[in-house]
This record gives sequence, structure tokens and C-alpha cells, in this order.
Amino acid sequence: MAKPLRIGLIGCGFMGRAHSNAYRKVSNFFDLEYQPVLKAVCARSEASAVAFAKKWGYESVETDWRKLVAREDIDAVDICTPNNTHAEIATAAAKAGKMILCEKPLSMDGPEGVAMVKAVEKAKVPNMVWYNYRRVPAVTLAKQLIEEGRLGKVFHYRAKFLQDWTISPELPQGGAGLWRLDVNAAGSGVTGDLLAHCIDTALWLNGSMDSVTAMTETFIKQRKHTLTGKVAPVGIDDACAFLARFRNGSLATFESTRYARGHKALYTFEINGEKASIAWDLHDLHRLQYFDYQDEGKLRGWRSIHVTDHGGEHPYMDKWWVPGLQIGYEHSFVHQVADFLQGLATGKPAGPTFRDALETQYVCDAVLKSAKTRAWQKVKSAAK
Ligand SMILES: NC(=O)c1ccc[n+]([C@@H]2O[C@H](COP(=O)([O-])OP(=O)(O)OC[C@H]3O[C@@H](n4cnc5c(N)ncnc54)[C@H](O)[C@@H]3O)[C@@H](O)[C@H]2O)c1
Repeated sequence: MAKPLRIGLIGCGFMGRAHSNAYRKVSNFFDLEYQPVLKAVCARSEASAVAFAKKWGYESVETDWRKLVAREDIDAVDICTPNNTHAEIATAAAKAGKMILCEKPLSMDGPEGVAMVKAVEKAKVPNMVWYNYRRVPAVTLAKQLIEEGRLGKVFHYRAKFLQDWTISPELPQGGAGLWRLDVNAAGSGVTGDLLAHCIDTALWLNGSMDSVTAMTETFIKQRKHTLTGKVAPVGIDDACAFLARFRNGSLATFESTRYARGHKALYTFEINGEKASIAWDLHDLHRLQYFDYQDEGKLRGWRSIHVTDHGGEHPYMDKWWVPGLQIGYEHSFVHQVADFLQGLATGKPAGPTFRDALETQYVCDAVLKSAKTRAWQKVKSAAK
């Protein structure tokens, strides 16, 4: 019989749904020592919390996260609320001795992240941040190929994350669904929202960064604020592009915008090494593109690997259907829960931990500072 892990989820939006789906599915597909139990969900409105609990199978509801965090029948707190709430909730949850699964970005900025890392490490509670793209099987396969030394020395890392949903000047900022446009709720724009994903994957695949130089732009300078009804300055970066030097000597370019007409969530990366290159595209997430210079000359070319094989060849895939049948976006969250639970069982915590995610925060801080100062910035290390 699996040991129950009683979840208290805070926030019933996009991520509240993605995580609830993962908790519900994980034990059907993975054999694990722990099994999530959907104990309580928290939303500020009771009607929303009750409707969500009914739909997803939570046993009870709260309307104040402080009450949820204080409950003795909760083992793990899952933070699925806007960025400006992560620190306060996580710190209180750590003090209450709860395990914490926190949505990305970890915090509004580096200093806030440091306090969160201190809180979980002092309380010695398991902690993880939901940088879920690490768990897309094709991305995990990329990690394995790099660790096997197949790329050799890495020269280039190239990533972008493009969207197009904020082009209209009529779109307001702030409030439900639009908190991402309000700097007080989001901390930053595309840097903390989209590039944070690219940065987390890059740090995981290619090691830490030494320095960055960036430019940002806010194309629409003022928007009506949903909560006040008044037109207010826009404080977020609508677009950001930066160059980076990794500590392994490779050079990188990163770009993100919400003004790339025609792109909804085009997250891509490419890595060029002396022996091989790999490329990945979220819109075709079950494929990994691979070029191996060691292939026989007449056959040399980019291969499109359909990452669906079993028998240990392709990460996570033996847990799903039969070879050749692909899985999708939501499965990355199922994998992340599975790895978290596995980490509890083995005592080897699944990453990214809060400390790992602090490194991403430091890159974001350096990027935003560079855009302001128009100068290269060193990236701080989050290592102990
Ligand atoms: N891992 C990913 O790929 C990914 C994707 C989207 C969002 N996120 C992150 O997840 C977090 C939530 O984003 P989202 O897209 O789910 O937002 P959302 O707006 O869809 O949902 C946020 C929810 O939090 C609720 N909320 C706000 N303050 C609250 C409070 N004090 N107490 C209880 N509930 C509160 C809101 O009512 C809403 O239901 C953000 O930090 C975001 O950056 C991560």
C-alpha cells in the first residue's frame, strides 16, 4: 500500500489545473512508494474553491492560504498563485514544516529568492520548483546525450520563447488572467515569465552562466489597470533579448517576446557541440533533432528522433502507451510529480530545488540590470 502524501493546493488557475491533473494521474502510470491525496484546495472565493474541489476531487476547501498552511492534515503545499505571493506562502509553509512545490519563477527577484532558500533549508523540508520542461522526454533525452559526452565541447546555446497575445493596446493590465502584465504581481515581463523557462533548461543542460548583456523593450507604455480602472504605466518588459557567456566557454543567445505575431508558445533551443548538435521545439515536443558528425559522410544529416520508444531508450515513455504513441504538455507535470515522489522515497531530492531555481533568478536579475545599465553583468552563483 502506497504511503499518502496529503496535498494542499493554493490557486485554481492554469497551473492549479495542470498540477491537479498530474496528482490524479501519477499513481496510475508510475509505481511509487508515495501516492498524492488531494486533501485541500485554496481559492480566495469559496464558490471557486468548491467548484474546483468538486471537479478535481479535493476533499476540502480553504479561502485563506494561511489556514491551509497551518492544517495538520497537509504534508505538502503546492503554490500555484501569481509570482508576488510565492515568497510569503513558501516561507510560512516552511515554518510550518510542510514540503513545498512552488511554481516558477521562484520569486520576484534574487534577494527574495535567497530568503526562500534559507527558509526551506533551515526547516529541512523537501522543496521543488515547477520548471516542467526538464521533464518533456525529448528534453530529458537531450540531457542524457549531453551527459554521455556525445556533443563534445559545446560552442553555442540558442533559445527563444515567442508569443503574440499582448499586441493589442486595448488589453488591460492586472487582475485575474492579466496579472502577468502588472509588474507588482509579476516582478518582470517575459524575462521572469518565459525566459525563466529557457534559462532553467539552459543551466540544466549547459551548466552555469558567467555574464550577460541584454536589451528589453516595453512596446505599450500604458494600459488600463483592471483593479483600479485607471490608465497606469506598464512596468514589465514586453520583449527581451540577451547574450550570455557560459562558464564552459560557450556563447548563447536568448530571445523572448509577446509581440511575435503568429507564435503562441514557440519555445525552441539548439545546442551546437564539436561532435554533434541537438535542437528541440515545444510545438513538436515529442521529437528531438540530432545531428552527429561521426555518422558516415554520405548518410550524415539531421535526424528527427520520435521520442516514444520503450525499453529504457526514451525517458519516461515506458510508463505510457506503446512505442510510437506520443504524449504531450501535461505529462511533463506528471513526470515532475513522479520524480518528486521518487526523491522522497530515495532521499535524493528531485530538481530543480529552490536553490537550483535561485540560479535562474540571478540570471534574470543580471539580464534586467544589464538592460537598464546597457552594460555586461556578472551572474551570481547560487551554489552553497
Ligand atoms: N510551469 C509552467 O509552465 C507555468 C505555466 C503557467 C504559469 N506558471 C506559474 O504559475 C503561477 C500561477 O500562474 P497561472 O498561469 O496558473 O495563473 P492564473 O491566473 O491562471 O491562476 C492563478 C490563481 O491564483 C489565484 N490566487 C491569486 N492570489 C491568491 C491568493 N492570495 N490565495 C489563493 N489564490 C490566489 C487566482 O485567483 C487564480 O485562480 C505563476 O507563478 C506562473 O508564473 C508556470
